[in-house]
Amino acid sequence: MAGFTGSTIGRKYAMALSAMFLLIFLVMHLSVNMLSVFSENAFNGASYFMGYNPAVQFLMQPILVFAVMFHFIMGFVLEIKNNKARPVKYAVNGSAANSTWMSRNMIISGAVILAFLGLHMYDFWLHEMNYKYVPGNGDPNDMTRFWGELHHKFSELWRVVLYVISFILLGLHLAHGFQSSFQSIGARHPKYTPMIKTLGKWYSILIPAGFIFIALYHFLTQS
Ligand code: HEM
Repeated sequence: MAGFTGSTIGRKYAMALSAMFLLIFLVMHLSVNMLSVFSENAFNGASYFMGYNPAVQFLMQPILVFAVMFHFIMGFVLEIKNNKARPVKYAVNGSAANSTWMSRNMIISGAVILAFLGLHMYDFWLHEMNYKYVPGNGDPNDMTRFWGELHHKFSELWRVVLYVISFILLGLHLAHGFQSSFQSIGARHPKYTPMIKTLGKWYSILIPAGFIFIALYHFLTQS
């Protein structure tokens, strides 16, 4: 593993695999959260399952945490190595014309997403840990609390604005990252590459749009 991630190609490959795992996670995460728009009961049931099922808690969650951390750390490592190998900036050597702004600034959108995750973990994960494991914070086995907690989180405008800005940056990150992850694992083919690019375009629009919709739905339906 150390040898694999020690080479640039190995690092890019590992980075792409962690990205693909996170692409799948985002679809699952959006699906569960979208339930909160349609059915309070369904969202409570799904959240209880995700929060209390041992396979989710002790197998899937640690893998997810590892994938997120790996992706961010490796992203920064690759950026630093690329900058060292490329002392002449794009604007000077003219290669800006051959790449999009987003592909050149994945590190910026990535850093915004990382900052968002800090707030997001504070909002939901820390709250959940407090509720579950600190005695006196309520009944940890209450199956009906999740929807109300989520709905309440989106009652403040500043949070909704920060979330929506982050989701837009997430969309820009995905717009380049989706197809780039396929390229990095060598999935290049005259027939399939255009399909992957189209799929990536729609993915990077629909997934963030879904998250924005959820945040706005809860904000606008506060009573
Ligand atoms: C409106 C949008 C979103 C809502 C309502 C939402 C809601 C939640 C909730 C309720 C949890 C559960 C915390 C727990 O019980 O442990 C959670 C966890 C998490 N969310 Fe989100 N989320 C949203 C968007 C996102 C986005 C865009 C990302 C990634 C860029 C993300 C990444 C995560 C991660 C990594 C966790 C930790 C997973 C876990 O504890 O199992 N979320 N989110």
